Amino acid sequence: MHICIIPGDGIGAEVIPAAVAVLRATGLPVEVTEAEAGWQCFQRHGTSLPDATLDAARAADAILFGAVASPSQPVPGYRSPIVTLRRALDLYANIRPVLGQPLGAAGSTGRDSAAIDLVVVRENTEGLYAGRERVEDAGETAIAERVITRRASERIVQMAFELATRRGAARGEPTQPPLVTIVHKANVLRETCGLFRRVALEVAQRYPEIRHQELLVDTCALQLVQRPEQFDVVVTTNLFGDILSDVACYWGGGLGIATSANLGVRQALFEPVHGAAPDIAGRGMANPLAAIGCVALMLEWLGQQPGGAVELRDWAARINSAIAHVLTAGPHTPDLGGSAGTEQVVQAVIAELR
Ligand code: NAI
Ligand code: MG
Repeated sequence: MHICIIPGDGIGAEVIPAAVAVLRATGLPVEVTEAEAGWQCFQRHGTSLPDATLDAARAADAILFGAVASPSQPVPGYRSPIVTLRRALDLYANIRPVLGQPLGAAGSTGRDSAAIDLVVVRENTEGLYAGRERVEDAGETAIAERVITRRASERIVQMAFELATRRGAARGEPTQPPLVTIVHKANVLRETCGLFRRVALEVAQRYPEIRHQELLVDTCALQLVQRPEQFDVVVTTNLFGDILSDVACYWGGGLGIATSANLGVRQALFEPVHGAAPDIAGRGMANPLAAIGCVALMLEWLGQQPGGAVELRDWAARINSAIAHVLTAGPHTPDLGGSAGTEQVVQAVIAELR
């Protein structure tokens, strides 16, 4: 198994080594290649994503990405390496799982949310983020074009139904049959959301054993707050998914814990949702659990690939339960109300794995 790590800037360079330590503790045969990207890389080499990094990412079985800092003022030639990577590797699906926390666990919201187990599946390549913006009327009018294609809609919805199928099988019937929620605003955005909705319902017909429902995006936002337990897999377009996944991640215990996967046809990149956190960088106090959770996501994905070993999925489950244990029993970093450092949390996870 060949993993490309791109720690990046700030706490990315602290949490990715922590995640690699946990990966190594599994004893799985892993070869790790480290590659550069981000703001420090730009200052050294004049590019935020060197060709060598792109090559290393392409050559690996999976990519583990930390975080990158962006300069506060626009800098000529600087482009966000994560956006470039998503495009270059055609990582068309952004997957953000949210697991609620029992009352008393660190990061819990003050409401027992242990029944929440949902995943937001967000289209990652088009929609309002297609980058087609312009100004008219001497700068007095700004226009963004929203691009929705049958191809991108079909593959993202198909991924959502495949994921729902696997989650249903893993839960083992029949208390919680899988449910795909298709989110759009087709009553207003008749052409773009209309196409997404039409294609989504076509795909749903191919999965008669999986239940589905439709929700308008505003209704979905409210329900993610009011009745989050009802959701299983939520699939939607780019901007809606960006916003809804942030709403949903509230239930999971916050940024120090939230994980994400960017999936393509053959490639996948796993990254914590958080950024470079310059306010705490270099002090050894970053919460490594999000990055460690990304290792679990990565092993799960690798285990699902053709020829992927069951052992990989077992390790993913073991890492997830070690994280759950540490969330309840500690030690906790300051973002979760504790006083432990990154290294202490890593050692606690590794001890729990053994
Ligand atoms: P951020 O996620 O870096 O930090 C937000 C707050 O959460 C900070 O107070 C930080 O200390 C805390 N935090 C984040 N992760 C944590 C962890 N693992 N443990 C403990 N505390 C944690 O977001 P912010 O401050 O908006 O952005 C900082 C820099 O990161 C910017 O340059 C931004 O462009 C970049 N960024 C990069 C992302 C990426 O690489 N995917 C995503 C978000 C921001
Ligand atoms: Mg976001």
